[in-house]
Amino acid sequence: MIGLPGETRPILRAYSLASPCWDDGLDFYSIKVADGALTSRLQKIRVGDTVLLGKKPTGTLVLDALLPGRTLYLLSTGTGLAPFASILRDPDTYDRFDTVVLAHTCREVGELAYGKMLVEDLKNDPLIGEFANRLTYFGSATREPHIHQGRITDLIASGEFFQTIGEEVFDRTRDRVMICGSMNMIQDTRSLVVDAGLTEGSNSMPGEFVVEKAFVD
Ligand code: A2P
Repeated sequence: MIGLPGETRPILRAYSLASPCWDDGLDFYSIKVADGALTSRLQKIRVGDTVLLGKKPTGTLVLDALLPGRTLYLLSTGTGLAPFASILRDPDTYDRFDTVVLAHTCREVGELAYGKMLVEDLKNDPLIGEFANRLTYFGSATREPHIHQGRITDLIASGEFFQTIGEEVFDRTRDRVMICGSMNMIQDTRSLVVDAGLTEGSNSMPGEFVVEKAFVD
């Protein structure tokens, strides 16, 4: 949880940590809502301002909840990219998986910029740079022309996603999947991977896929 002091009580919202676990700083990735209770103010903070931070992080998008496999798919929409910004900069990810595929779908092309920049920067990262050639990026936009156009769910179903990245369809013996986006995106993407035969994992019983639970009913 991060937030700001309010007039009567603090305004706090659940955010994913976008920075890797070894980093001294903490990164967060947020939309900016002009009249939003928190982000209308959060976007204007300056050095020296107070930001509130919950003491206990929780979450389901952790490597320990996945069984070993060959390829790790990180499927995201919008700011659902945030937890994967952390995972793709964690050396442990490349210890556990041969290949990592980051998929990011946004409404507009410009919104893909942060994810693309992270992937580009990885090549020059002193800690992770050597693994950069094991990461594949797939971006798509839904409301503007783009080389890949459409929702990730539709592009998985049509085969365009797998064809572009040069992989076979999901296979539970080999592939592991993490899913983060809006509630509807999570539900629809989960259905696809369940139909492909993958089972959901947790810390106590690792499986073949996990979804972000912070805002899933
Ligand atoms: P679309 O433009 O077709 O709604 P949002 O900002 O609403 O969370 O959307 C971010 C991205 O996620 C958009 O590209 C949006 O596509 C896509 N999206 C929204 N709902 C779903 C869903 N149920 N499954 C897959 N992608 C979705």
